[in-house]
Amino acid sequence: MSAQLIDGNALSTQLRADVAKRAAALQARGITPGLAVVLVGENPASQVYVRNKVKACQASGVHSVLEHYPATLSEADLLARVHALNQDPSIHGILVQLPLPAHMDAHKIIEAIVPAKDVDGFHVASAGALMVGQPGFWPCTPYGCMKMLASIGYDLRGKHAVVIGRSNIVGKPMALMLLQQDATVTVCHSRTVDLKSLTLQADLIVAAVGKRNVLTADMVKPGAVVLDVGMNRNDEGKLCGDVDFAGVREVASHITPVPGGVGPMTITMLLVNTLEAAERAAA
Ligand code: GUN
Repeated sequence: MSAQLIDGNALSTQLRADVAKRAAALQARGITPGLAVVLVGENPASQVYVRNKVKACQASGVHSVLEHYPATLSEADLLARVHALNQDPSIHGILVQLPLPAHMDAHKIIEAIVPAKDVDGFHVASAGALMVGQPGFWPCTPYGCMKMLASIGYDLRGKHAVVIGRSNIVGKPMALMLLQQDATVTVCHSRTVDLKSLTLQADLIVAAVGKRNVLTADMVKPGAVVLDVGMNRNDEGKLCGDVDFAGVREVASHITPVPGGVGPMTITMLLVNTLEAAERAAA
């Protein structure tokens, strides 16, 4: 039997309606939630992402400011912009789109953002808060994955979750979030020996590598839940994930499609984090 799809667009519509409601409630108190999006250079993928983020803000009653600088901007000038945004009371969230040009130290830039405005959840303080289970901001993509699991009523207690990928943005925070919900978590990566033997034991698989067909039907236990974080292009140039969707959907109980799965949820959780930041500032 074919797996049930977890529809990221439908779930996003629901969650964004709640964001709009919360934005209107703040507005009634004279506060407009504000997000600053900073883009440096002309990376085409980054330009698309940033445009989508700004558009989503407009649709949800979140004020957004896009600051687009040439790739020649100095690191010192970017730091000065971040410091100014830290001080700006109309801005509740700051997002510096990655990757940054090679002459900049991305870590140094992210660390310059005040944690109270770190709606990407990339600051070391945010990562630390997640690790010890304290309030902070969760990175948007794994946070979106958790919302998708909640939407199907998935109880993680005692489940074996296999995360493929160990990035700071997805794999590592994903593992911590799953652990916080009492899953037994295995993190796999490029040096993992016999990935298939591990994924075959999994009740839940999160694929976050950035490579096509990392997960195929023969690697999935019947009835497992599969979340696909990948964003790749196939030979025809069409958007596809890390999972062989056509094959795996015949084995899994639930699966996220690409496009229309985790992608829209990432932007939705950015809106949620921005609202949260504005509400905390107003409290
Ligand atoms: N580059 C790719 N994804 C992201 C993201 O979620 N946030 C930022 N800031 N940069 C990115």
